[in-house]
Amino acid sequence: MGIESDAIWFDGRIVPFADAKVHVLSHTLHYGMGGFEGIRAYTQPDGSPGIWRLHDHIVRLERTMHVLRTPLPFSIEAIEAACGEVLRANRMTEAYLRPLAFLGMGAMGLGARTNPVHVIVAAWAWGAYMGDEGLDKGIRLRTSSFTRHHPNAAMPRAKVIGQYVNSVLARYEANDDGYDEALLLDASGMVAEGTGENLFCVADGRVVTPSATNLLPGITRASVLEILHQAGIPVVEATLGRDALYVADEVFLCGTAAEITPVAELDRRRIGNGRPGPITRLVQKTYADAVRGRVPALAHHVTRVEPA
Ligand SMILES: Cc1ncc(COP(=O)(O)O)c(C=O)c1O
Repeated sequence: MGIESDAIWFDGRIVPFADAKVHVLSHTLHYGMGGFEGIRAYTQPDGSPGIWRLHDHIVRLERTMHVLRTPLPFSIEAIEAACGEVLRANRMTEAYLRPLAFLGMGAMGLGARTNPVHVIVAAWAWGAYMGDEGLDKGIRLRTSSFTRHHPNAAMPRAKVIGQYVNSVLARYEANDDGYDEALLLDASGMVAEGTGENLFCVADGRVVTPSATNLLPGITRASVLEILHQAGIPVVEATLGRDALYVADEVFLCGTAAEITPVAELDRRRIGNGRPGPITRLVQKTYADAVRGRVPALAHHVTRVEPA
């Protein structure tokens, strides 16, 4: 599966895929200033595309750029509309959408303030991020030697392009050591999140997730909280050590790309009986149904797009 498509939205226009190019002296290429989002669209029961929590994602992009003191040159409504246009231009009903705001060419150096801010929205077909087997049987996780960003060094609540070097290095390390994904601890050594996912565990009959202090407040995390709430299952936000996960009955990761991915093993300790547990399965199934417009109580999170 490639990232090719027919067309990309670039600064207000749909352009052919091959024409969506930037100059090598674009500021973001050098210093990583900019923000991005990852969004999924799913085929709805009537065959048309529906985008999951589109508004929440674009609001987060706007907040990321606010944190960077680099306002978006387009309104939230315009970027939301762009996401629909990209799906239509590519005749896609199911896709991963990537809005990205970056600084273009102009001045160079860290103090440059005059560079144009560009925005693109691309779309491509992206199946199960951790593979179908990972979704079904659970993945192998390893605690990373890399620490999640401290808020005085980077901005964990913001989805900043340059900050993802931390995630990429952690992911490389985990994969090279034979694991599927990395678990990052925060600067105080407590569980933060995956390289592109938040985490939940079920322990002693309670569902627990790290509080969203030193991590990206995931939109899937918010969906999981809503699903559990609607199912009448209480959740607590707490500080977790990695050893709390070793003895948990269930652990799962959640993110737009990873959706709901069970964790079968952490640092060579089997989680529970090594198979996805009942709460993980419930959340996984409800989420899969909700994003496809099959859960009326969550249907308000789907933005319907007119098919091409
Ligand atoms: C570091 C990090 N944590 C968590 C998440 C999950 O966020 P979301 O559910 O909004 O995709 C992501 C993905 O964007 C991420 O990059």
